[in-house]
Amino acid sequence: MGIQRIESVTYGIDDLDECVRFFEDFGLFLVERTDEHAVFETLTGQTLHLDTEPGPLLPAPVEDGPTLREVVWGVDTREELARLVDGVGRDREVRTSADGVHHTVDLSGFGVGLTLARPRKVTVEPRRANAPGHVNRWNQALEPLTRAHPLRMCHVALNIAKEGRDEAVAFYTDRLGFRPTDVVEPMGVFMRAPGDDDQHTMLLCHRPDRVGANHIAYEVPGFDDVIEGGNFMIERGWREARRLGRHTIGSNVFRFLHAPCGGRVEYAADMDRVDDSYATRVHATTPPHHIWALRTNRDQDAPAS
Ligand SMILES: [Fe+2]
Repeated sequence: MGIQRIESVTYGIDDLDECVRFFEDFGLFLVERTDEHAVFETLTGQTLHLDTEPGPLLPAPVEDGPTLREVVWGVDTREELARLVDGVGRDREVRTSADGVHHTVDLSGFGVGLTLARPRKVTVEPRRANAPGHVNRWNQALEPLTRAHPLRMCHVALNIAKEGRDEAVAFYTDRLGFRPTDVVEPMGVFMRAPGDDDQHTMLLCHRPDRVGANHIAYEVPGFDDVIEGGNFMIERGWREARRLGRHTIGSNVFRFLHAPCGGRVEYAADMDRVDDSYATRVHATTPPHHIWALRTNRDQDAPAS
């Protein structure tokens, strides 16, 4: 099979206190904290590392300021892991750290790690919804959630350079087994890890023609979590980057926030699931960014009510 999921990510940061406050508010769980670094977990056991002094196995940062330094991918078996490490090691250095992670660098300069996946089972009970003829919630009012707690990092989006973009994508498809799901010629390539059923596990986006962290998406159980999680972040003083909407590619409901570790984070719910029968779609022009996005005109035209 091969790569199953994002296993961990590492950011090189300046302000550890601010970044820790951000991810605590975002709903991840702090599992380790020193003066130099902090580690958070999702509910399925993926880890996010915030490091003021990133280790020598990571490549130089791809952009100024705090940014994403490495994505470590979780692989299902030792045999598959050895095969992938051999494949990337054909023409580049691969170094192995004491924790068993094999580290290398992609063509854009992002750190790429490979390790055994350690998925933690989590039981998700989506909120029951009512519709005529489909009543799933009798005699039960909803309570506010207030907070969101991400189940998992579901995809990573990286900005890459236009020049050499085909080779940059080929590193992930040919060496690491990712499968393109939607190729948007003017914008980038959405791809799926072979062990994942999300419509995309990764996006390499060349539209800005500037290498850098774009965003990491975190799946939450439902729309209430996307909305209430975003509201909580705003109440805590964090800045929204993209208001509530539903993407065209992937169909996920989203809300984005600027992250002090670099790039943005996305609360995501209800992404398309696909299997190997899903044929790659190639778009000569960029599809609309979203199916819908929240609009209001009440604050412009209407008296406050
Ligand atoms: Fe996304």
